[in-house]
Amino acid sequence: MGKALEVIGLSKRFLGLQALKEVSLHLEEGEILAVIGPNGAGKSTLLNLLSGLIKPDQGRILLLGRDISHLPPETRTHLGLGRAFQIVQPFPELSVRENLLVGALFGKPGLKRKEAEAWVAEVLDLTGLAPRAEALAGELTLLEDKRLELARALATRPKVLLLDEVMAGLRPKEAEEAVALVRRIRDSGVSVLFIEHLMPVVRALADRVVVLDHGEVIAEGTYEKVAQEERVREAYLGRRA
Ligand SMILES: Nc1ncnc2c1ncn2[C@@H]1O[C@H](COP(=O)(O)OP(=O)(O)OP(=O)(O)O)[C@@H](O)[C@H]1O
Ligand SMILES: [Mg+2]
Repeated sequence: MGKALEVIGLSKRFLGLQALKEVSLHLEEGEILAVIGPNGAGKSTLLNLLSGLIKPDQGRILLLGRDISHLPPETRTHLGLGRAFQIVQPFPELSVRENLLVGALFGKPGLKRKEAEAWVAEVLDLTGLAPRAEALAGELTLLEDKRLELARALATRPKVLLLDEVMAGLRPKEAEEAVALVRRIRDSGVSVLFIEHLMPVVRALADRVVVLDHGEVIAEGTYEKVAQEERVREAYLGRRA
């Protein structure tokens, strides 16, 4: 298996603040990787750099071996990088199906309408949204909203999916369902990098965990391994105190 994503020496400074400092990490093909760390560690900055919303000061990002560091976000999407946001932002006056069609057509320019419709039907099945396909996006429950946000990212046919705290606000039972959904997405052939504050979710979902603190990678390994490391405990305790 190759590398779905490779980050090499990525740095980003905001005015006086070094938000990321020479971060290197990778995502294997077929892997689910969690990026965790205390508030302000640089997690969202990393995701924004990966999806191209902001530009790095230094470092490179490879998507399936190809350097995407200087490509705009939409080109990254076309090359197979999908992203779901914590703040769900569908078109509220369009149906669930229509929202996904927009995603499918946006993700792959030149895609035929029939092919897009067939793909959307698959995504509706995979995400459990098929019974709600004709509902307006603005009428969904919070759990359905989260499913739609995942489905919209999937509609662009990503090979690599970036998730930014998509479980936030869900009840434990709902988070369990969302965990199962992300597993199904991985099993369908998508590599997943996710940011999450909920440790039970990280533990249940991640094959491997990378811990950031003050913009640097301070630990890497299985959940059980990193959770025991002194540096990780200190990073979390230090902020809570
Ligand atoms: N656009 C920006 N301008 C200035 N500073 C920023 C900007 N974006 C992030 N920062 C700062 O960079 C640091 C890292 O922020 P980031 O949002 O990446 O952390 P995070 O790990 O996602 O935190 P949280 O868990 O609270 O979401 C923080 O100190 C933050 O205030
Ligand atoms: Mg964040």
